[in-house]
Amino acid sequence: MELMVQPPVVRTPASVERARPLVEALDLTRRWGKGPTAQLGIDRVDLALGHGELVAIVGPSGSGKSTLGALLAGIDRPSAGSLVVDGVRIDQLSDDRLARWRGSNVGIVFQNFHLLPTLDARENVELAVKLADGSTSRRNRRLRSLDALQAVGLADKAKRLPTQLSGGEQQRVAVARALVAQPRLIVADEPTGSLDQESGAVVFDLLAGLVSGGTTVVLITHDEHLATRTDRIISMLDGRIVSSGAQ
Ligand SMILES: Nc1ncnc2c1ncn2[C@@H]1O[C@H](COP(=O)(O)OP(=O)(O)O)[C@@H](O)[C@H]1O
Ligand SMILES: [Mg+2]
Repeated sequence: MELMVQPPVVRTPASVERARPLVEALDLTRRWGKGPTAQLGIDRVDLALGHGELVAIVGPSGSGKSTLGALLAGIDRPSAGSLVVDGVRIDQLSDDRLARWRGSNVGIVFQNFHLLPTLDARENVELAVKLADGSTSRRNRRLRSLDALQAVGLADKAKRLPTQLSGGEQQRVAVARALVAQPRLIVADEPTGSLDQESGAVVFDLLAGLVSGGTTVVLITHDEHLATRTDRIISMLDGRIVSSGAQ
């Protein structure tokens, strides 16, 4: 009988890259202090997030959601465990390298917008382009920032200072700032928590829309209705993930 030989599977580096999860956390732990008075943020968390996934992280106050989000975003560092994002062991980077990595690889959205009050909307977004790639020309930075503001429907308000924008508009500027460098990962910690329902829905739709381009979006939220509109809900309790199912 003739032997059937399967042709070898040829994979391009890009497909190999995408076959791996974007985020792989193992035994991830964050605690502050030592001994019996130590405060535990998250406790031996294992987590894998795929490319282009829209994931909600839910759980009661103090359950470790923000701690986990801050680690994924490279704002904070784990006390133990490993964290690989897009093939990079970010837990092993020096502070300088982590800051640089963050600038070009993650977009971060906070509950209270965190826009710089003395810069207008476009300048706030431009700063993120500068952080991601210091060598871009001023003109290029400006064009990219206007594109990002256009993507969130605020091209006509580019010259407004944060105080001249509503909360919902400020958060849309923050979303523009998060997406302008085209990061693979966006971490949003209660991005709708300070907004009315209607503005919150607009911000959610903008974030959710990014996954079609392959961006992974982590949405920390108290809003159960929004959580049910994601691909997967990760529930936390006392620093642990207690369930993590597709829906
Ligand atoms: N800087 C810190 N120092 C000490 N404990 C902290 C610190 N940040 C967070 N924690 C503790 O870690 C736990 C998880 O907090 P957090 O991640 O903010 O929860 P959540 O976002 O789910 O409300 C809480 O018990 C909190 O008190
Ligand atoms: Mg929190």
